[in-house]
Amino acid sequence: MTLKADSVFHTHVGTLPHDQIIGRQQGDWFRTSMGQGLLALKPTLSDYVLEMPRGSQVIYPKDLGNILMLADVFPGATVIEAGLGSGALTAALLRAVGHSGRVVTYEVREDMVAKALANVRALAPDFDRHELRIGDVYQGIVERQVDRVVLDVPEPWQVVSHAAEALHRGGIFLSFLPTVLQVHRLVEALTADSRFQLIETVEVLLRPWNVTSRSVRPVHRMVAHTGFITTARLCAPKAGAQPPPGTENTRQEKEDGPADDR
Ligand SMILES: C[S@@+](CC[C@H](N)C(=O)[O-])C[C@H]1O[C@@H](n2cnc3c(N)ncnc32)[C@H](O)[C@@H]1O
Repeated sequence: MTLKADSVFHTHVGTLPHDQIIGRQQGDWFRTSMGQGLLALKPTLSDYVLEMPRGSQVIYPKDLGNILMLADVFPGATVIEAGLGSGALTAALLRAVGHSGRVVTYEVREDMVAKALANVRALAPDFDRHELRIGDVYQGIVERQVDRVVLDVPEPWQVVSHAAEALHRGGIFLSFLPTVLQVHRLVEALTADSRFQLIETVEVLLRPWNVTSRSVRPVHRMVAHTGFITTARLCAPKAGAQPPPGTENTRQEKEDGPADDR
């Protein structure tokens, strides 16, 4: 909840005026009208992502953390993202690129934007490092020499050649997908484009444990499936392989000779 003067928090274990909490430290205990003890803590990014208003399915915290590591998102990086959805990944990326980086998000549905940006504002203090492009990422990416392209769209194979033109050499392409049929199609498209190497797919399973003095065991329930993360790196086209016709690298190599000879 957001604390407001004169407001009251209502729960099944009693009420608690916000005024009692305002001005106190995080981690303090409070007593409701029914005598129940409650702890007050500022939500973490994970807490907020799981509870925030959603316009679409969000990427779960276990995947957000791994996406930042697998895409090697660093302070100062320029990241192209698609799509905005509920803004969970955008907020995580903004926090990772920090004050000197930049996140450009492509989103095709304008009606998703207001709710998602409210989430991003709540989560990412560096909101000014965010740019939104209302448009279809399948039609192209206008930015060039970017560090990372991070996708959460249904048909990322339509973005492979655009990402190859947008990324600098060594840049990382990452896609999050819910089904393995989509992963297969994406990996085929990445493999067919000789500029992408080190193509890898992982799934992240996070199993929480119950640890008490008498019982040490996995908890009975877990989130069994969210999605697959596929990564690839933009490299020089492999010797003997032809990059897709009409791409920038093809044109450049006709003029300059093979990239490896430079
Ligand atoms: C699953 S949601 C993204 C959720 C988001 N990553 C999050 O964590 O909240 C997918 C989003 O991609 C957008 N989208 C789908 N196809 C697109 C395209 N071709 N170009 C841009 N955005 C697209 C959808 O409108 C939707 O908002």
